[in-house]
Amino acid sequence: MKEQVTTTRLAELKRKGVKIAALTAYDAQTASLLEEAGVDVVLVGDSVGMVKLGYENTIPVTLEDILHHVKAVRRGLGNAGKRPLLVADMPYLSYELDSAAAARNAGRLVKEGGAEAVKLEGGLEIAPTVKELLRIHVPVMGHLGLTPQAINRLGGYKVQGRKTEEAEKMVTDAKVLEAAGVFALVLECVPADLAGTITHKLAIPTIGIGAGPHCDGQILVTDDMLGLSPGAPYSFVKRYCELRPLAAEAAARYCREVREGSFPAPEHRKDASAKNGARS
Ligand code: KIV
Repeated sequence: MKEQVTTTRLAELKRKGVKIAALTAYDAQTASLLEEAGVDVVLVGDSVGMVKLGYENTIPVTLEDILHHVKAVRRGLGNAGKRPLLVADMPYLSYELDSAAAARNAGRLVKEGGAEAVKLEGGLEIAPTVKELLRIHVPVMGHLGLTPQAINRLGGYKVQGRKTEEAEKMVTDAKVLEAAGVFALVLECVPADLAGTITHKLAIPTIGIGAGPHCDGQILVTDDMLGLSPGAPYSFVKRYCELRPLAAEAAARYCREVREGSFPAPEHRKDASAKNGARS
């Protein structure tokens, strides 16, 4: 029987002081790779809008977009050792207007998409929605700090909670979300000390991104940490490899070889590949 990471398992990891490793995925292949690597939580983030769909920010992402990608990720999981918890982001305007619509949309991500939990951005104002989702048995992950769906109000991708009143509000929001029932809380672009204070005050795990080392876990956008995303990374991103130049060079070599006629070589003929055991 495969081990399945659950929301209660994440709480247990916090109690034991074991850090939680989370990453994003938007397709089956990446999902299976992350599972093989032993990731605890796979998030189908609305960052899919920027990373895969070519949007400038996450605002245009729809519920149908997330549903499409969460189904793909679901299909990619379940083949390696420990199965990660699958969390789906609720995109902009899929939960803010009324709790009944939020419940219907979250329910679709679970029932049709195969997500095991959803993530919502916001504090105090989303607490009633969190309770409504829990009423229909959908676990909820919170998200405070830099909340990209509020980018037009925030005025840019910058650190949140530097001012005392902002920091105090974030601590209050975190406690209200915990009381409403969220099982974990993402803290994005928050000063490390504030993230540490929030982490210390909550029994639920905090998952940081650009929030320093004191959180109970960390999350990154997979394409960023694999060096697939174009341009300079945010300062908080560690690039564990540089896949983009490697892939671009491989594609350029392919173009050259096709044009000069050196690919396909005799060993790439279908009957030849069947002989050496490669995929036919
Ligand atoms: O959309 C996303 O990928 C996220 C994570 C970066 C936390 O919200």
